Amino acid sequence: MSERYDVIVIGAGPAGYVAAIRAAQLGFKVACVEKWKTPDGSPALGGTCLNVGCIPSKALLASSEEYEKATHHLGEHGIDVAGVRLDVGRMLARKDGIVTKMTKGIEFLFRKNKIAWLKGHGRFAGQTDGLYRIAVTGDDGTEVSEARHVILATGSRARHLPGLPVDNRVVCDNEGALAFDAVPARLGVIGAGVIGLELGSVWRRLGAKVTVLEAMPGFLAACDEAVSRECWKLFTRQGLDIRLGVRLGEVAVGEQGVTVPYTDARGEARVLEVDRLIVSVGRAPNTADLGLETIGLAADERGFIEVDDRCRTKLPGVFAIGDIVRGPMLAHKGEDEGVMVAELIAGQQPHIDYNCIPWVIYTSPEIAWVGRTEQQLKAEGREYKAGQFPFAANGRALGMQAADGFVKVLADAKTDEVLGVHIIAASASDLIAEAAVAMEFKASAEDIARVCHPHPSMSEVMREAALASDRRAINM
Ligand code: FAD
Ligand code: NAI
Repeated sequence: MSERYDVIVIGAGPAGYVAAIRAAQLGFKVACVEKWKTPDGSPALGGTCLNVGCIPSKALLASSEEYEKATHHLGEHGIDVAGVRLDVGRMLARKDGIVTKMTKGIEFLFRKNKIAWLKGHGRFAGQTDGLYRIAVTGDDGTEVSEARHVILATGSRARHLPGLPVDNRVVCDNEGALAFDAVPARLGVIGAGVIGLELGSVWRRLGAKVTVLEAMPGFLAACDEAVSRECWKLFTRQGLDIRLGVRLGEVAVGEQGVTVPYTDARGEARVLEVDRLIVSVGRAPNTADLGLETIGLAADERGFIEVDDRCRTKLPGVFAIGDIVRGPMLAHKGEDEGVMVAELIAGQQPHIDYNCIPWVIYTSPEIAWVGRTEQQLKAEGREYKAGQFPFAANGRALGMQAADGFVKVLADAKTDEVLGVHIIAASASDLIAEAAVAMEFKASAEDIARVCHPHPSMSEVMREAALASDRRAINM
């Protein structure tokens, strides 16, 4: 007899594990299928985000920032440090320790919420009268379980380029780039997207000469134009060599490293020689080998599962969330979808405002935004007003050696409703939460400006930018 559950979740990344916990909180009998194994062969929960994504990358970003502070910035505070030495092995061990702590934390949460972890690869094995069979193939063979509700949360993997095999030693995707055993003297990065900029920054701070090759002619096209312009200035000043509008030739890997021929934006043939190469050209959804055909479901031509605004597929009881569906490939977006779907199954009426999902790029300074960019508002023909305020005029930022960047608030010209907020700042990832709350509550710029903000704090810049949208900034 196969075990019967109310809900089976396939995939225990941030979308799937959160869905499983919320469903269990709502009283359902839940199983979560997860096949991930760590390099030493141990099964692990947490998916890309915890194992080879958000969490390890942020640990290395923090370590590399501390190193850069010690080597370049403490002198300004009157603190002279000598003999700063980098131990990459210890840095990686710290990162690995954080990952293990977090993934074990999810195991604890699964036990606490009585969620069965089915270890292995899950796929549909047909359905009868809306009862779905899920076959899980693990180390000890295949077992079949059943449920009326199935949540697909199988996530994504790095996209690779044809003819450029990734060995995760010399040519790396995110997995290898988070585990270099030494700082490469010359590092190449293909793709000036989120991973390229974050991981390129890590290894630049630790001493690599980093060259980024980007196919698009523009830089950070998804950001507000004022933000991309400022970031270009800051990142190139920091020493990231970013070359836009390139077309790659045939990459060759040899004894001496990697040779990357390319055509530059002016059409001239060039060659980049590096010791290691990171390929960060986007991610692809994991939807092959899920047995979708056995229940009459299919992924689209790009591999995504089609869902409505509540993550329902065309089949009753089958949902899909996280990186395998439309929308940004962000952990918190997947988490919110996980909660929404569990609550839908319980008969509640949850809802996500996708316009209020914040984005963060964890460079230094960080980039964060929520809502519309100025160029989007122009394209939509919407009348708006803009207010911008720099951190250079904020006392806390100066004290913290964090004077780079600004907050820009975009508000409707007539109603004053906040339409978008864009931040470049040392703590933009935290500051943006205020803007997300404001937009969820349909706040006006005046609402933000009227709220008392602590002094001195970086958050005062948010208030000043809101005031600036009405030409009333106090400290400028
Ligand atoms: P995943 O996290 O990919 O999890 C899917 C899980 O499903 C995996 O564990 C996989 O093993 C399992 N699985 C797949 N198929 C099967 C199957 N058939 N049977 C059993 N198990 C299966 N996002 C942010 O919001 N902030 C960040 O700072 C951030 N940093 C990132 C840094 C890097 C280097 C990378 C690569 C990504 C980063 N992301 C970040 C993106 C984020 O990691 C993803 O958006 C998020 O992990 C998606 O969650 P998910 O649950 O949909 O999928
Ligand atoms: P990305 O989509 O952010 O950037 C990929 C870049 O590669 C683009 O600029 C693209 O134009 C470029 N590119 C594509 N093909 C190319 C080619 N042949 N030659 C040169 N350039 C090429 O993808 P990335 O950086 O791989 O990250 C994947 C996803 O992971 C992100 O979109 C994001 O959703 C998520 N992520 C989120 C983070 C965060 O929230 N802080 C951090 C890291 C990843």
